[in-house]
Amino acid sequence: MRQESVLMVGSGGHARVLADILHLSNGLRLVGVIDDFEMAGTPALGVEILGTCEDLPRIMRQLECCRVVLAVGHNARRLDLAARIESLCNDVVWQSLLHPAAVLAGDAVVGEGAVIMAGAIVNAGAQIGRHCLINTSAIVEHDCKLGDGSSVGPGGVLGGNVRLGVGAIVALGAGVINALELGEHALLGAGATAVRDLPAYAVALGVPARTTRFRDAGEEYL
Ligand SMILES: CC(C)(COP(=O)(O)OP(=O)(O)OC[C@H]1O[C@@H](n2cnc3c(N)ncnc32)[C@H](O)[C@@H]1OP(=O)(O)O)[C@@H](O)C(=O)NCCC(=O)NCCS
Repeated sequence: MRQESVLMVGSGGHARVLADILHLSNGLRLVGVIDDFEMAGTPALGVEILGTCEDLPRIMRQLECCRVVLAVGHNARRLDLAARIESLCNDVVWQSLLHPAAVLAGDAVVGEGAVIMAGAIVNAGAQIGRHCLINTSAIVEHDCKLGDGSSVGPGGVLGGNVRLGVGAIVALGAGVINALELGEHALLGAGATAVRDLPAYAVALGVPARTTRFRDAGEEYL
């Protein structure tokens, strides 16, 4: 079978999980890693660091490879990186990854560059935006609509018809009851249960979740 070459941006723990999914995916082959903070030539993920994002146009040309996946766990940084790479390489094709042990409904839609990890379930009619991250054993129920770059952490659960704004985060083990909406870059903290909509940039904790403060999209949460 013909294998498509893929470049991965990032080389940390999250990248190791994505590399594993890639190795399990028929038809895909990791050919190199891009990292702004590591030396070219350093071994990484069974291949090596080939350069920084600025080097991507040259690397893509040399390897005749246009497929790229972003191994950056932080939602806002992943979205910023996608925009930066698109401005450098107008022919980039964002590779999405689906673990073979994930369940994806036949009519669910998965955006470019999205990643769906082991044990995750994405149910009927769900729409997963570009560069979204559906983590290990997360559940996205029927007809949910996830904005670009949003994420559901390990074991997180979205009831039916939930809407996540761009970059919104449902942290590990958190739940959102059906038909609610989390605004852009809102953060539902680990273990929390949302029973009301959350405004954009809100941080909400506990059961039932209460908004404790507002955040900047770029701040650390991992
Ligand atoms: C939301 C989160 C970033 C913490 O929010 P924060 O506003 O930075 O909270 P702080 O750490 O400053 O703590 C403030 C208070 O909230 C409490 N708190 C923090 N996180 C909490 C949570 N998830 N649930 C309940 N209380 C929490 C702290 O104990 C602290 O209480 P105190 O003032 O009585 O000491 C964190 O809980 C979280 O969910 N991180 C994401 C984890 C994740 O999903 N990782 C993915 C791994 S793949």
